[in-house]
Amino acid sequence: MPSEVSRLRTGVKGIDDLIEGGIPEGFLVAVTGEPGCGKTIFSIHFINQGILDGDKCIYITTEESRESIMRQASQFGMDFEKAMEDGKLIIVDALMGREDKWSLKSLDMEALVEKIIEAKKELGYGRARIAIDSLSAFWLDRPAMARRYSYYLKKVLSKWNFTILAVSQYAITTAESFGWGIEHIADGIIRFRRALRGGELKRFVIIEKMRQTNHSRYLHEIDIRPGVGLMVLGRVERRVENYKLPPDVMRRIIEAKRRAEEIL
Ligand SMILES: Nc1ncnc2c1ncn2[C@@H]1O[C@H](COP(=O)(O)OP(=O)(O)O)[C@@H](O)[C@H]1O
Ligand SMILES: [Mg+2]
Repeated sequence: MPSEVSRLRTGVKGIDDLIEGGIPEGFLVAVTGEPGCGKTIFSIHFINQGILDGDKCIYITTEESRESIMRQASQFGMDFEKAMEDGKLIIVDALMGREDKWSLKSLDMEALVEKIIEAKKELGYGRARIAIDSLSAFWLDRPAMARRYSYYLKKVLSKWNFTILAVSQYAITTAESFGWGIEHIADGIIRFRRALRGGELKRFVIIEKMRQTNHSRYLHEIDIRPGVGLMVLGRVERRVENYKLPPDVMRRIIEAKRRAEEIL
């Protein structure tokens, strides 16, 4: 009998509910979507849940500074500063190019892997989770390397009992035009989306892939709320109103039909 899958909660209950309770331990999961649709905030939830669950946590930030990630977390009541002081979390800053121990001076794949292993040694023995926000930043100037780089990362880090959330900035279709992206080697794909509906910005999530999991196949609307963070509002239904014609058009069609029947 295969043993039961051990899962890591993501920190967003509504998303755990779509994937049988969480991400299987040891997985590399790609998080994709357009700018502003919630990828960084989801990564922050994932790391915060790790802190609560006693995991060793590493956050790699390439698009924002360490301080920016800490500030965003604190807006949702998550104390990353304390977690760092307590030796539960290391935030590797790959944006600012500073000299401190937990900064990356260049977006180099081997340097990233070395830094992750160094961080894990510092945090100590035990289950670990990493958010790499974003991984695609490491091949921005050499997109043809995307697949090779993500394969290398997965191969090296799989020995270390890490569960990895890897943010990819590209939409999958765009990534394909640049060469195979991380989505192709990932064990799971969580896709965020955004759209304008009636002049309002709406955000959505769909699980496109999650190995060993009977995951939801439906688009769900999400929201980002002050003091709370990301939450799932519910499944997007096909609404009748979306297909119904405007009332005056409907009235004219019915009128025309009635007149036609009168003539006959
Ligand atoms: N404190 C907050 N309250 C409500 N919404 C917020 C808050 N902080 C950020 N947001 C929303 O989250 C968005 C940023 O989400 P983020 O996860 O950084 O996107 P990305 O997918 O680009 O990483 C902002 O554009 C804003 O709409
Ligand atoms: Mg981001």
